[in-house]
Parts: sequence; C-alpha cells; structure tokens
Amino acid sequence: MELSTAIKTRSSASKLTTPGPTPADLAQILDAAAHAPDHGRLKPWQFIVLDAAMRERFALAAAAAKRVRVPTMTDEQFAAEREKVARSPTIVVVACTVRRDQTKVPEIEQVIAAAAAAENLFLAAHDLGYGVMWKTGAAAYDAGVKAELGLDPNDHIVGIMHLGTRLK
Ligand SMILES: Cc1cc2nc3c(=O)[nH]c(=O)nc-3n(C[C@H](O)[C@H](O)[C@H](O)COP(=O)(O)O)c2cc1C
Repeated sequence: MELSTAIKTRSSASKLTTPGPTPADLAQILDAAAHAPDHGRLKPWQFIVLDAAMRERFALAAAAAKRVRVPTMTDEQFAAEREKVARSPTIVVVACTVRRDQTKVPEIEQVIAAAAAAENLFLAAHDLGYGVMWKTGAAAYDAGVKAELGLDPNDHIVGIMHLGTRLK
C-alpha cells in the first residue's frame, strides 16, 4: 500500500476478533514503530506485547482502574470490562520511559516520540491488513496497571494498542 493511501484509509477498528498479527507480522510492525523520529536518539519507548497470561492480569488491573474512575460500576460492568480487554486478540502497550538525565530533550519531546512510534505501529499494522484501536482511558494513568506491566509510576503509557482482525 502507498504510504499516503495507508494514512488516508487508516481508521479505528472498534470491534476486533482473532487472529491477531502473526509473529512475523508483529515483528515487522514493531520494527516500523521503532523507526519513529526520536530527538537525541534516546529511544524512550517501550513496546510491551501482552501474552495471554499478562493480558488476563492487565485486564483485571484495567477494570480496577476504570472502577476507581467510575465508582458506581456494578460487578457485572466490572466483569464485562475485564472480559472485553482480556479477549482482545493482541495488545501492545506503547510506553515512554522518560530519560530525565537527558536535559537537552525535554520530557514532552520524549513522550511525543513514543506517540510517533505508536502511530508508526498503527500504520504498519493497517498496511498488513490488521485492524487497530488505539486506547488510553483510566488504565493508562493508573499506577496499578503500570506496576502490572513492569513500568515505573513516572513512566507514561501513550497507547494501549489493540490489534486483530477487523469486524467493524
Ligand atoms: C492518544 C489517544 C488515545 C485514545 N484513547 C481512546 C480511548 O481510550 N478509547 C477510545 O475508544 N478511543 C481512543 N482513541 C481513538 C480515538 O477515539 C479515535 O482515533 C478517534 O475517534 C478518531 O477515529 P479514527 O481513528 O477512526 O480516525 C484514542 C486515540 C488517541 C490518539
């Protein structure tokens, strides 16, 4: 696909099903992500691919984060939220671990480099025919979720990227 076509035809896939990207396709997608522009060549991004076990733990932590934001959530809504995340075909969390010793490159520039990586990921997955949904929500700002992913509370989650076969 032409790059301009990929950019213009990209859209969020609000409903995904299996299969997610093959290992070879995922490697290609992550390689594209890692070619994002990056001030100072700090590579401040992390791409955390959630395997099945990690996805279950992440889904529980994400549902808990949402309940903090929406305390009126019923147990049924909590279970539905958890299930929705857990059944996503493939999740890649794009995080920014800010190099605070690098005073020449301000934090915001490191965060936007990670966001550029997330967009590269999106376009590369779209180019290979996969559906993508870029999410953040309460989970992206929750210390419990970050801990589950092995991130520091000061790290930034710039995208919770759901990838799979597009239904909608
Ligand atoms: C940083 C970022 C965070 C987002 N977070 C969410 C989210 O939490 N939930 C959601 O449904 N969509 C989320 N989106 C997707 C946007 O809602 C979507 O891109 C927008 O509606 C435009 O639709 P399109 O991608 O089809 O052009 C996010 C997009 C970005 C760039």
